[in-house]
Amino acid sequence: MSYDFKIETADKATLYRDLASALEGLVAGEPDAIANMANASSVIFETLPDVNWVGFYRNVGGELVLGPFQGRAACIRIPFGTGVCGTAAETREVQLVEDVHVFPGHIACDSASNSEIVVPLIRDGELIGVLDIDSPSTARFDEEDQAGCVRLGEILSKVL
Ligand code: SME
Repeated sequence: MSYDFKIETADKATLYRDLASALEGLVAGEPDAIANMANASSVIFETLPDVNWVGFYRNVGGELVLGPFQGRAACIRIPFGTGVCGTAAETREVQLVEDVHVFPGHIACDSASNSEIVVPLIRDGELIGVLDIDSPSTARFDEEDQAGCVRLGEILSKVL
């Protein structure tokens, strides 16, 4: 079987719709969370333009612990409430950050990152972890990206 997802399109809504379909196909019938996070980080990283880090932090006993990702090596443990990921975990709200350098407590893992979106992953009322996507461009993510990434998070929450 080939996993050659080549998604190229001009408008964001179509891009995210195609990405969501590809992701649904990738995780279908697979219960292993690590495999699903690994493939998800890859297909998102390969599909979205202008991103330098895509990956997961998992809720391990009330602390965020690094999961599968694409990009540079990152910090391993993040307390709830700290930085962008920790804020998403604590508030359970999407964090759309135009300029990470002015976000209080932002944790700089890759100095190339300038903007970021973090989506909390919730199943049956439990925070499973967060999906974190970073870009080298300031204000890379807008509300269409947020809607698209929330949809990706919904697909993933069921299989992690
Ligand atoms: N910048 C993040 C830390 C994780 S890395 O970007 C991969 C934050 O403040 O949550």
